[in-house]
Amino acid sequence: MVQFQKIVVLTGAGLSAESGLSTFRDADGVWAKYDYREVATPEGFIHNPAKVLEFYNMRRRENRGVQPNAAHRALARLDGEYPGDVLIVTQNVDRLHEAAGTRNLIHMHGEMGQMLCNNCGQRAPWGEEELTVEMVCRACAVPGGLRPDVVWFGEMPYHMERIDNALAEADLFISAGTSGTVYPAAGFVAEARNRGAHTVELNLEPSDGVSYFHEKIHGKATEVVPAYVEKLLASAADARP
Ligand code: OAD
Repeated sequence: MVQFQKIVVLTGAGLSAESGLSTFRDADGVWAKYDYREVATPEGFIHNPAKVLEFYNMRRRENRGVQPNAAHRALARLDGEYPGDVLIVTQNVDRLHEAAGTRNLIHMHGEMGQMLCNNCGQRAPWGEEELTVEMVCRACAVPGGLRPDVVWFGEMPYHMERIDNALAEADLFISAGTSGTVYPAAGFVAEARNRGAHTVELNLEPSDGVSYFHEKIHGKATEVVPAYVEKLLASAADARP
């Protein structure tokens, strides 16, 4: 029998950093250049929708041509090859986990491949076009409501019931590339640990929640994540009858 039957992996911006995408809270991060209240809250969108849309158009341009790195590929391998259940929960709105081949994936903060109408709630693929305040929703025909399908501060993250159920059942919880500052994701480690999971942090530096982790491995995602995945797959191979 494998050591762990049900694994939940939480990922954050640090996982995509070595693909060339900015994190949020590092010295040169997104929130050092932009005020999150202006560009990532419902109030900011009401106050200045054009500014918010331009922020996400810019972030989408930055995402163009970006490729998954060894950490995304290792987690895709874990998802595909581990004999137990593996669920990847990402706070990232990029599509690098999918690009690496991960299938069992939840985008708890939404993703930039879709747009959402603030007026009627309809979702639609967000193609190559840039979002503007003049755009009209195809479902309700109201202009001005289209926005990226990402979760802003003050909004409820997606798929929380499914995530909570997975955390309650998990026997291994891994947090990779996240500062552990934004709730509810920052609370997942305590939730999983309280329900009996072994907890592991894989991050460049100690996160805010570092004391909740049984194991802490600090280093670059492209090094520490593949190494940990390799260990899990090797122990699963050893456990084969
Ligand atoms: P943060 O920017 O808060 O944290 C990124 C973490 O990754 C930090 O702890 C870094 O030390 C670490 N890091 C940086 N480079 C790394 C590397 N090469 N390898 C490993 N770790 C590295 O990003 P998140 O924790 O993802 O939400 O932020 C959580 C949420 O806050 C985001 O989803 C976003 C943001 O505001 C919304 O926009 C709603």
